[in-house]
Amino acid sequence: MIKIFSALLLMLSSTFVSAQKKITYFEHIAPIIQERCAPCHRPGTAAPFSLLTYEDAAKRAKMIGRVTGTRYMPPWKADHLYRSFANEKRLTEDEIERIKQWVADEAPRGKEPKSGKVRNTNIAASPAKAADAILQVHRPFIVAGDLKENFTLSVIPFDFDHEPNVESIEYISDNLKLIHHANFGIYAVDPSIDISRDTVSINANNLSTYATRLTQLTQNLVYYNGWVPGSTPITFSKGLGFKMPKHGVIVLTNHYAPSSVQKTERSSLQFYFSKTAVERTVNTLSIGSGGVGEITPSLMIFPNEVKTFHIRMEIVEPLSLLYVWPHMHLIGKKFTAYYSTAAHDTVPLVRINDWDFNWQEAYKFKKLMKIPKGAVLTIEGIYDNTAQNPHNPNSPPMIVFSDGLMGTKNEMLSLILVYLPYKEGDENIDL
Ligand code: HEC
Repeated sequence: MIKIFSALLLMLSSTFVSAQKKITYFEHIAPIIQERCAPCHRPGTAAPFSLLTYEDAAKRAKMIGRVTGTRYMPPWKADHLYRSFANEKRLTEDEIERIKQWVADEAPRGKEPKSGKVRNTNIAASPAKAADAILQVHRPFIVAGDLKENFTLSVIPFDFDHEPNVESIEYISDNLKLIHHANFGIYAVDPSIDISRDTVSINANNLSTYATRLTQLTQNLVYYNGWVPGSTPITFSKGLGFKMPKHGVIVLTNHYAPSSVQKTERSSLQFYFSKTAVERTVNTLSIGSGGVGEITPSLMIFPNEVKTFHIRMEIVEPLSLLYVWPHMHLIGKKFTAYYSTAAHDTVPLVRINDWDFNWQEAYKFKKLMKIPKGAVLTIEGIYDNTAQNPHNPNSPPMIVFSDGLMGTKNEMLSLILVYLPYKEGDENIDL
């Protein structure tokens, strides 16, 4: 009863805020910034400045008003009206309005709460225990101080004497400030293939010499995920997980933020294993470029062309999706994935209206997402190879195609599914 009463009071007071009370930093703005901005805007990340204190925010108030008003920040690219996700980072209209009003009032400070600092609930600490395995890129990458972005692909071979159950994975870098995003795939490799010399780190735009070998190593995807600033370690819900293959490689692609001075960076993945066997093994399926399914027409975009491509696949066994990872490169414009059933209903999975290579995410469903047997999964990608596309890496535009590789200037259309074989009642399980 008391709880209900205080909740009511809270609702009442927040509706009166805009009419009567001044919006102040400590009362209204700090909670938003701590939750929605500080996970990235803090020391040691690729974000250009910290937003931990009143002073940090106040001196950038106008800029904060602008980037939140346009929804440039916090970065969240999926169309929330199409589908909202468990890991959504968007601000509500009300929060944006509050920030706007605070900026218009010249960023009043308000009274600091007695309890001292505003608590940040959204910065996850690393797991307390030591990692069971750390797989590291064999040598540091040198970022020249030339203010250019860098894209690298590194291969980390590994061997285990058994197949450990993976409970959690954390992406680690000794210089996180340089990392704009990182993606990684874990692949099982046939035991007959010697991988001891595949300790490779190359420019992702210059893969041709390694292409054949890379294709050979990446036939059997076991798991795929990534890291963007603000990402927390990947942990599976109880009983879910996957087995690390005995013999395999991690293929890690890094996007480095520009730097004005020369720096080095070395990435690793920390694994936490569980002693109890995973009850249900999550599977990963890569659809499109470098995976299964056919892109029609084949992915080739002529200069000055805006073109749409599709992949359609029938689902032969019912699935329960944990998350989806849409992927295109620089001239990708719009990405949509949905499925349809014989009853002709269409179920949205994910849509990104304004694709941005810089802000890729694993979109995690709120509950396990069932795709029934016989459904047709459709992936649609629109590419803009005109000079009007500010992300076009070629000026003037040049022909762009997919050769199944991951070079940034080639294109890809792919959707990675992380899923379980469907079990009765899955659609009620929270993720
Ligand atoms: C997922 C991580 C992340 C989150 C969350 C995030 N930012 Fe950022 N922000 C960045 C990075 C990285 C940059 C620099 C690169 C860029 O601008 O793309 C940036 C840039 C900015 C800039 C500079 C933009 C410019 O034009 O130079 C502002 C201002 C900003 N963020 C404010 C915010 C505010 C306010 C929030 C919360 C409401 C927020 N950010 C949430 C990562 C984040």
